[in-house]
Amino acid sequence: MADLTDVVRFRAVNRSFCSGIAHRLFWNAKIGLTPVALRGGNMGWKYLCDASEVGTNTVKLVDVDGVSVLVANYGTGFRAMPPICPHMEEPLAESGVIANCILTCTKHLWAWDLQNLSMIGETEKELKTYEVKQEGSRVLALIDGEITYDFDEDGEDDDDFFN
Ligand code: FES
Repeated sequence: MADLTDVVRFRAVNRSFCSGIAHRLFWNAKIGLTPVALRGGNMGWKYLCDASEVGTNTVKLVDVDGVSVLVANYGTGFRAMPPICPHMEEPLAESGVIANCILTCTKHLWAWDLQNLSMIGETEKELKTYEVKQEGSRVLALIDGEITYDFDEDGEDDDDFFN
């Protein structure tokens, strides 16, 4: 997980990175993400991890019956979400930074308040999440299938982002 000092470097490195379908395929392959239904149609509350496995202001990537889920500890609670940024599919396990309950994707600085899921600043898409609860030290999520985002296939927005 990047820290706040990596923001400028991330922006410089990723500014020229390819976009659109190739971008999505690259990152999905990198993090092993494939759209799937839960294996065996097994739905309901699923164990993600123990609370102690996700430190304050960190994230952990877990696999739940074939669905990749990112668990975020924002200090006063946990969120579970798809492992990619809703903007350009950046893997949030690598580019996500949490501070003051705000999750920021360091690629283009979209950000969300993890307490109420409001969008911060220039962010244009909501962060989708799975419902989460804790039973003792166990963090659980209600997973009835994989949450996905719709992305612009032509990537025009991606290329123009900094222009
Ligand atoms: S890919 Fe996350 S803010 Fe652009």
